[in-house]
Amino acid sequence: MRVKVLGAGIVGLSCADELRRRGHRVTVVDPQPGRGASHAAAGMLSPAGEVWHGESTVLDLGRRSMALWPSYAERLGVPLHTTGTLLVGRDHADLQDVHRQVDLLLGHGATVESLDAREVAALEPRLARVAGGALLPEDHSVDPRAVVAALLARVGTRPDDPEDRFDATVLATGARLPPPYASLVRGVRGEVVRAHSDDPPSRTVRGWVRGQHVYVVPRPDGEVVIGATQEERAGGPPTLGGVARLLWAARELVPGLDEAGLTDVTARDRPGTPDNLPLVGPTGQAGVVLAAGHFRHGVLLAPLTARLVADHLETGHTDPALDPRRLIAPQEENSWT
Ligand code: GLY
Repeated sequence: MRVKVLGAGIVGLSCADELRRRGHRVTVVDPQPGRGASHAAAGMLSPAGEVWHGESTVLDLGRRSMALWPSYAERLGVPLHTTGTLLVGRDHADLQDVHRQVDLLLGHGATVESLDAREVAALEPRLARVAGGALLPEDHSVDPRAVVAALLARVGTRPDDPEDRFDATVLATGARLPPPYASLVRGVRGEVVRAHSDDPPSRTVRGWVRGQHVYVVPRPDGEVVIGATQEERAGGPPTLGGVARLLWAARELVPGLDEAGLTDVTARDRPGTPDNLPLVGPTGQAGVVLAAGHFRHGVLLAPLTARLVADHLETGHTDPALDPRRLIAPQEENSWT
């Protein structure tokens, strides 16, 4: 097949790479490759840490995609950081949030180990004193910018040419879908800070600090990614208030970050959907497929999405939970068929 992929973020590029591997002719179009939400993403491969009440489908999808990541990263030549994730509560009220998350995860059979304050300190001595926490040994991380660079080197991008003819088009433009699909996603703003530390924590730390949620994701080269605010609005630069809240919470948890060198502040829109599940599969318009709406889970779900899109184009199979037609009004769909 000749396939056009619109959008060179981690999801579009993963789809393009999978289709190319399966022998299809793929053209990727994006005026600013890799500069959308993938550029901000911290890269937590965190099926357990990112699941909230009522989102068991996300947990299941995350686990399926996590199982693909080790071989995926190896093929792309990008290291995975496999030291697990620590959930912590700064004070006893914050610890209630950790306990809620642990109970939820245990209910879903996830591997999670509750820790008291002393056990947290022994595991991660760079943390401030916290009330307690839990270890998620199966939640890892990867550098999304490195993944995007590796994928771009494989599949490249081309300017859009209206004369080109394709058998199928994959729409993977994140929070900004073209008409008539634009209203299926909304931008959910997030700010992310990057710094370099000579003394970073040894694993991802996700914490609640007096009700403020923050994560600190270390990389083996000393980069530390601090995220992320979540606001129901799209567009605009990082705000001083958002960045100040992140830095306050991160330094409360990891005091040594005071000495870290600031390298980057980014704000991007997560592609949120009404049911917080991605849109992967047919639209009702012949030959037009969505790979979008991954909300907080684009990096984690990229390899699974790529397989699902390629399988759909080759066999017609669609995962019903992700089928975009669940959110497309029949008249909208019919007007395209
Ligand atoms: N997955 C992390 C975030 O969206 O902030």
